[in-house]
Amino acid sequence: MRETFVFNQGWEYTPEWKDEFIAPDFQADGFERVTIPHANKELPYNYFNEKDYQFISCYRKVFNYDPSWNGKKVFVDFDAVMAYAEVYLNGELLGSHKGGYTPFSIDLTPALTEGENVLVVKVDSTERPDIPPFGYVIDYLCYGGIYRDVYLRVVDPVYIQNVFAKPKKVLEQEKELETTVYISNTTDKAQTLDITVKLLWEGSLVAEGTETVTAESGKSQFDVVISGLKDILLWDIDNPNLYNVEVTIGEEGSVRDSFKTRIGFREAVVKADGFYLNGEKVMLRGLNRHQSFPYVGYAMPARVQRKDADILKYELCLNAVRTSHYPQSPHFLDRCDEIGLMVFEEIPGWQHIGDEEWKQVSYEDVREMIERDWNHPSIFLWGVRINESQDDHEFYKETNRIARELDPTRQTGGVRYLEGSDFLEDVYTMNDFIHSGGERILRDPKFVTRTEDYVPYMVTEFNGHMYPTKRFDQEERLVEHAMRHLRVQNAAALDPHISAAFGWCAFDYNTHYDFGSGDRICYHGVMDMFRIPKMAAHFYGSQVDPKVKPVLEPATLWTLGERGGAGVLPLVIFTNCDSVKVKLHGKEVGEFYPAKEKYQGVPYPPVVIRELKTGIWGVQWYDAEFIGIVDGEEVTVKKFAAAPVPTKLEIEADDTTLIADGSDATRVVFKVVDQVGNILPYLNEVIEFEIEGSGTLIGPKVTGLIGGCIATWVRTTGEEGTIKIKGVTTRFESETIEIEVKK
Ligand code: GAL
Repeated sequence: MRETFVFNQGWEYTPEWKDEFIAPDFQADGFERVTIPHANKELPYNYFNEKDYQFISCYRKVFNYDPSWNGKKVFVDFDAVMAYAEVYLNGELLGSHKGGYTPFSIDLTPALTEGENVLVVKVDSTERPDIPPFGYVIDYLCYGGIYRDVYLRVVDPVYIQNVFAKPKKVLEQEKELETTVYISNTTDKAQTLDITVKLLWEGSLVAEGTETVTAESGKSQFDVVISGLKDILLWDIDNPNLYNVEVTIGEEGSVRDSFKTRIGFREAVVKADGFYLNGEKVMLRGLNRHQSFPYVGYAMPARVQRKDADILKYELCLNAVRTSHYPQSPHFLDRCDEIGLMVFEEIPGWQHIGDEEWKQVSYEDVREMIERDWNHPSIFLWGVRINESQDDHEFYKETNRIARELDPTRQTGGVRYLEGSDFLEDVYTMNDFIHSGGERILRDPKFVTRTEDYVPYMVTEFNGHMYPTKRFDQEERLVEHAMRHLRVQNAAALDPHISAAFGWCAFDYNTHYDFGSGDRICYHGVMDMFRIPKMAAHFYGSQVDPKVKPVLEPATLWTLGERGGAGVLPLVIFTNCDSVKVKLHGKEVGEFYPAKEKYQGVPYPPVVIRELKTGIWGVQWYDAEFIGIVDGEEVTVKKFAAAPVPTKLEIEADDTTLIADGSDATRVVFKVVDQVGNILPYLNEVIEFEIEGSGTLIGPKVTGLIGGCIATWVRTTGEEGTIKIKGVTTRFESETIEIEVKK
């Protein structure tokens, strides 16, 4: 049986490289002790030099041999290392890997010795022109380090390399599971093996299939088909039913190896007239997600990755996400499976196609992405083009060929901004930035594709650089930013030939100096880098059944002089309520209804108030109350103070229990709010985070509020106990939150 150990703890790190580091007897005295996921360099929030993390570094780990490994094979599995890695054990080079977004395994067995072993990883985080996405410019940062998890895996010399469990006949009464089992036989003899596949629902056996096979020396693959599956629950967006698949290989009752994965029975297909999930048409409303965070870039643990999926699904009420522009954390994808968030995943790249050597790495990226992720029911499409690159017939013929050969169950797409480009994929995926506030919202798909008929088509980006907007920008800009998202989502949903619209983008992100606002941030998110919402987030967040959660977010700061020309009109209220009653100074002044005529494409159009006597410039300005009505009942209220004053420093943690592993982390948000609980977006006081116990801060201890609020992340130290955290600004002190840290 295999044994897998999390190998994140106890690494030694230095931000430089010397060949002498390879020697097993090298004294790594000056090295820092770190835990993976690790950023090779902690960065400021903005205005830094992106060259600061582009260097070669060394990670080193000493571990002891376990005699139970005798006769076994021992691998080290890296989930991702940016961007090139060389792995040495006891002074011997055992393997290398190009590409910072896909996993790789190194067989340590040839150099493993009894007693102490020294593993050294040379990590090259420079923008090497032989590795995608590098070679030209990129509008995002590829932060360095061993930034995803590491595992040590001990297996039998005959082991399961991978498993692809394919649900078949999904829409028929009796379904089928075809499981392809990839076996590696590292002995020099053929082995007769029983392969057993078990399908489990919540731990209990649903069905089982066994095949007896002969695995020749080397690599081989076998199919085990279980048919006649009845009463299987389908996986979909609202009911993401997941089944476990357990595969074992062995002979006569003795198990040599086992492999577990998780699947969902669903049929997902993009057609010329829409996206169909289990035969039903669903409009996909999504955003693009970059996997970056302030200070540590990509190096965030499972919990924080999973939280992003929750934010997209539950705060932004999306049903889809595009993993722009690379394969993202397995933890993020696991969570998408669990909560029902459709995923369009793509290979690393940005506009530039390199030489032959570069293309070879890109082919490997296609392979490694699909082989890692083919069991995720949430993934419905493989992006096999370099985002927004020019046509390259031979290159993309090959990426499509690889994808279809590896995974005949999913369609391919390839994101472009070109009209009439070489259509080698199954779905024409187009970044349509035509809307810039005027009448034109989206192009006609057939005009874009230049095909005779409509083809499967998705809008994979819009907005972004056309209207960068900061969370603390002027109100009119924040409203217009939100309205552009609304207009495009609305138009996409009304066009029967557009299956999906993914806005650019979910979260602001750090970028190179030649993009963004010069401070190394692209303010393109509907949320900021801390995942704190802008007004555009409220448009998305209001697209949910009010029975699940009533939403009422007037897109205003409710002040008389913030907008040009004074006042707050037209006042857009993002809401899923039937109507909104407005009270000024405690007196009801009107009831207003959603603009259903104008925005027929979105489930919950906003209320737009064009006329309302709200006040007189410099003379009169009232407290306001907005009351959301559903089925005649008052279900939610939002208040504004005419004269807001900072009243309280609020603190909120995403989690109050963490694991004492030295990498688990959670976000803590701080907001200065007024007397009725609204953020004060022009308050930029200094804030200091006070932390005690078994946790440390990710990022600075003293910083400034950004537009009235900010977040930090708290990471465990490895010790059990409690973390106490609070914030202190010039005027306020928050409550203290206690986070329990357990093994
Ligand atoms: C697109 C690109 C994205 C981002 C966006 C900004 O062209 O694909 O990565 O740069 O523009 O609007």
